[in-house]
This record gives sequence, structure tokens and C-alpha cells, in this order.
Amino acid sequence: MLIAVKNLTKVYGKGPLAVRALDVESLEIKEGEMAAVTGPSGCGKTTLLNLIGALDGPTGGEIFFKGERISGRGETALCRFRREKVGFVFQAYHLIPSLSALKNVLVPAVPLGGGRVRRARELLRLVGLAGKESRRPGELSGGEQQRVAVARALLLDPELILADEPTGNLDSAAGAEIMELLKSLNRRGKTVIVATHDRRVAESCGRVIRLADGRVVS
Ligand SMILES: Nc1ncnc2c1ncn2[C@@H]1O[C@H](COP(=O)(O)OP(=O)(O)OP(=O)(O)O)[C@@H](O)[C@H]1O
Ligand SMILES: [Mg+2]
Repeated sequence: MLIAVKNLTKVYGKGPLAVRALDVESLEIKEGEMAAVTGPSGCGKTTLLNLIGALDGPTGGEIFFKGERISGRGETALCRFRREKVGFVFQAYHLIPSLSALKNVLVPAVPLGGGRVRRARELLRLVGLAGKESRRPGELSGGEQQRVAVARALLLDPELILADEPTGNLDSAAGAEIMELLKSLNRRGKTVIVATHDRRVAESCGRVIRLADGRVVS
């Protein structure tokens, strides 16, 4: 089991403004799975991914990664967990506009003292961007920018890829290509979790986890 979630809750805000965004009794993701988290806007997809990736902490409950509890650890340990174990891909790419594609891919190595240029070039080739290493994000299409973001997510060779609406800003052809890319990474052994409100994107994954009002409904 790569991820196990027990009685996980997330409440945003306090008092009368409190929103119970997530309430998941039990959820397990196996190593090598490709899972979609789907459901209508506001059902808690982003919240669940952010908790699994330790970008945010839960209000209650526990998250285990390979049997080790990650919820409740200190910020230094969480930072290390995020950097070493998880690659993140976001809807809006979150690239640095002033940096080349290559330098964007290298960003995760900055806190480690740099290096890894050869690997970054290999990854850009893997995602189909050979020859475009020196382009800035503004000189790339949306689909190409998302490929840079996928290459960046792979730089430190994480076991888990979390992609939150990775096709949300793309037309259907570019979106399908990004999904193909994520599937090829899954075939190479990465565990992939994709949050999407798009039914077709969800159904192209090996497993579909449906949320409604913060709960897993199927
Ligand atoms: N920082 C926050 N403060 C307060 N409420 C929040 C916050 N983030 C999310 N929420 C609320 O929590 C619930 C779940 O939000 P979340 O972003 O996880 O949904 P989602 O399924 O990702 O939606 P979408 O498909 O629109 O991205 C929603 O009711 C949302 O309004
Ligand atoms: Mg969301």
C-alpha cells in the first residue's frame, strides 16, 4: 500500500464560517495505481490531494505513506517528504515566467544545491520537448507548459505524482496528450493520482474515486 487514509477530515475556517470540506473514513492507494479523484466543483478533490501531498495539514485523522504516518510530522520532515516522494502538477502549470523550460525543470533541485542538468534535459526529451529547452513559458503552448511542469515533477524521481486538474486549462487534444504522458509514467511504475471534474478524463484512469460533499461515494 502506498497511501492509506483513516478518518481524514478537513475543516476550513472557524465557528459559523467553518466549512467541512473533507470527511473520508478510509481510502487506500496501492503502489503502481493510476487513480482519478472526481466529483463536482467544491466536493473536496483539491483538498484531498493537498492533504495527501502534505501541502496542507488535516483537521483530524491520519495519512500513511508506505505504512509511515506523515500527518502530524513537523514542517522540516514534511518539506522533505514533499520534495523526495511527491511530484506535483497543477492546472495553471505554476512555472516561473522568467526562466527557461530547462531552468523551470531544475527548480526542485535548487534547495539541494543545483546540478541534475543532464537529467532535466533527458526529462524534457521524455515529455516531447527536445529542442525547446531554452524557451520561456510564454513561448510555449499550454500543453507544452504542462509538459514542462510534468518534467519538473519528475526531476527528483518521486514515487507519487499528484496532478490537480492537469488538463483543466487545455483543449481536449492537448489534454488527452497530457493524460497519455501521465499514463506512460504510470506504466513506468509511478503511482499517479489525478483530480478532475472531467468524466472522460476520470474514466481513462485505472480507478475512479468519486467524491460528493467531501465524502467518498464510490
Ligand atoms: N482555503 C479555504 N478556505 C475556506 N474554504 C475552502 C478553502 N479551500 C477550499 N474551501 C472549500 O472547501 C470545499 C472543497 O474545496 P476543494 O477546493 O477541495 O474542491 P474541489 O473539488 O477541488 O473543487 P473544484 O472542482 O472547483 O476545483 C469547498 O466548499 C470550498 O469552498
Ligand atoms: Mg480543485
